Amino acid sequence: VEADSAWRDEVRRLAGERDAVLLAHNYQLPEIQDIADHTGDSLALSRIAAESDASTIVFCGVHFMAETAKILSPHKTVLIPDARAGCSLADSIDAAQLRAWKAEHPGAVVVSYVNTTAEVKAETDICCTSSNAVDVVASIPADREVLFLPDQFLGAHVKRETGRDNLHVWAGECHVHAGINGPELAARAAADPDADLFVHPECGCATSALYLAGEGVVPADQVKILSTGDMVTEARSTRARTVLVATEVGMLHQLRRAAPEVDFRAVNDRASCRYMKMITPAALLRSLREGADEVHVDPAVAERARGAVRRMIEIGK
Ligand code: 13P
Ligand code: SF4
Repeated sequence: VEADSAWRDEVRRLAGERDAVLLAHNYQLPEIQDIADHTGDSLALSRIAAESDASTIVFCGVHFMAETAKILSPHKTVLIPDARAGCSLADSIDAAQLRAWKAEHPGAVVVSYVNTTAEVKAETDICCTSSNAVDVVASIPADREVLFLPDQFLGAHVKRETGRDNLHVWAGECHVHAGINGPELAARAAADPDADLFVHPECGCATSALYLAGEGVVPADQVKILSTGDMVTEARSTRARTVLVATEVGMLHQLRRAAPEVDFRAVNDRASCRYMKMITPAALLRSLREGADEVHVDPAVAERARGAVRRMIEIGK
């Protein structure tokens, strides 16, 4: 406890010295979430990064998130405590693959999930996150073809919600969310029929959750497909005593803080993202001491990506 409070004091002191704002994604370790100035989902953190007056942004999350902050604020210093914190979903498509896909669908509007590299964003018309993907696609004229990438499960969710049949979906996936499977969810839901289900749209089991609702295994109003930020909002108003949570386990910390009286349980307690967990207390301290790891995006790439990211933070406000 002594060491913890010394760590906290040192982190706050160094952040003040560097004029740094600390941002933490909802999947970060609890101690990182607790010391951050802001904790939230990808969209909320992008908006905060764009609006902050601080000269340095310390992004406790994964690399594409820090890159997105740099694209929006090229004159700010953006640090990530460990540059090796990647994302298996962002790795599932590169710029050359996207160019080849675009060539097969001339004139299509390209919608990329924020979980992509800066180079992929530079080839994109509009970025989105899980909290505004449906709004982003709905903003595109119905007669235009849409290429949606890289997450197949989020893509299937958007397709269902918008009813578009001219939406093509890339076959990428997040290894953590894809691993939360339908049978596991069905067994947990059947054992606890009064529980709400909070399901992230990147989950392979999102379709199964809706199937369970359709079959009457779980009442339809207890199945909620939500971004991580929307889960926190929903937690504050749920009347359920138990909530089964299908997403990365770091999420439980903010949910329990938002609604301490509710019993939040992970559908799969092995669903931990090793990239998110690379941002340790020691890594954050080193980052602030050394001004590392600094995130750079090629200015020409950032310039081409900026419009797509700006559209993302405007839609669904
Ligand atoms: P959101 O926080 O935007 O829902 O994203 C989830 C995610 O997997 C980020 O890596
Ligand atoms: Fe990427 Fe999945 Fe980790 Fe999110 S949980 S950062 S999508 S690998």
